[in-house]
Amino acid sequence: MALQLEETVSFLRSFQPVNASIAIVLGTGLGEIATKVIDKVSIPYTQIPHFPVSTVPGHEGNLVMGYFGGKPVMVMQGRFHYYEGYDLAKVTYPIRVMARLGVRTVILTNAAGSINERLRPGDLMVLADHINLMGVNPLRGITTGPLTWRFPDLTNAYDPFLRQCALRVGAEKGFSIQEGIYAALAGPSYETPAEIRFLRLAGADAVGMSTVPEVIVARQEGLNVLAISCISNWASGVKESVLDHEQIFQVVKKAQTAMLELIEGVLEKIPEEMYM
Ligand code: HPA
Repeated sequence: MALQLEETVSFLRSFQPVNASIAIVLGTGLGEIATKVIDKVSIPYTQIPHFPVSTVPGHEGNLVMGYFGGKPVMVMQGRFHYYEGYDLAKVTYPIRVMARLGVRTVILTNAAGSINERLRPGDLMVLADHINLMGVNPLRGITTGPLTWRFPDLTNAYDPFLRQCALRVGAEKGFSIQEGIYAALAGPSYETPAEIRFLRLAGADAVGMSTVPEVIVARQEGLNVLAISCISNWASGVKESVLDHEQIFQVVKKAQTAMLELIEGVLEKIPEEMYM
């Protein structure tokens, strides 16, 4: 893995701008945000050595480098999921690459189903914490390094300052935005109503199939993390409706502008020590 990382990193270093210190990972239906990056270079994942390839519709599969919200950024237009068959080392490979390219802060986005009725489809949710129910951990198998590396602390996995910043920016812009707990499941089937009742009892506000492995690796790598869900649907059994990927995709597409403005606002406010 170390050699592969070196090859990926040296390939990406040959592009300008090379100094992206903030990374943004765009989830399902949120890819258009990358089109707002200015002075950009867009590299298809297929051209990047050792990068996985997105197989999910709505995940374009480009790494876009340029400027957004006045900051040098690296944007993943589409991510990798455990349910695609990749192991978590592969799913989180881009996070390790980012860390080695000098990224200090990562903003992760996703689409999620609402378990808590106070979060409605179209709303934004700032992750305050997560429950990992994927049944796997991306750090499994790491047997070397200091103990703090093998057993990273996840107490403040979601950076308290960035969370506050996102809530403030969202409120200023008049968005419906709240904090919540994200439960990650392996997928790709959606949950049953019984599973959603279980998750509600466990304290989860929203459910999805991504983000958590990336957060764990980002924290191990010492990156500051902000994660935002676009609530795309009522989770199974919360209302009468049934779940449909295409419909979920359409709700997220509509909420894209809010997500874009939120990220832009956060980037404008991000303090120097989080990106220098
Ligand atoms: N469940 C799991 N993942 C999801 C959902 C959901 O309801 N909505 C968007 N991603």
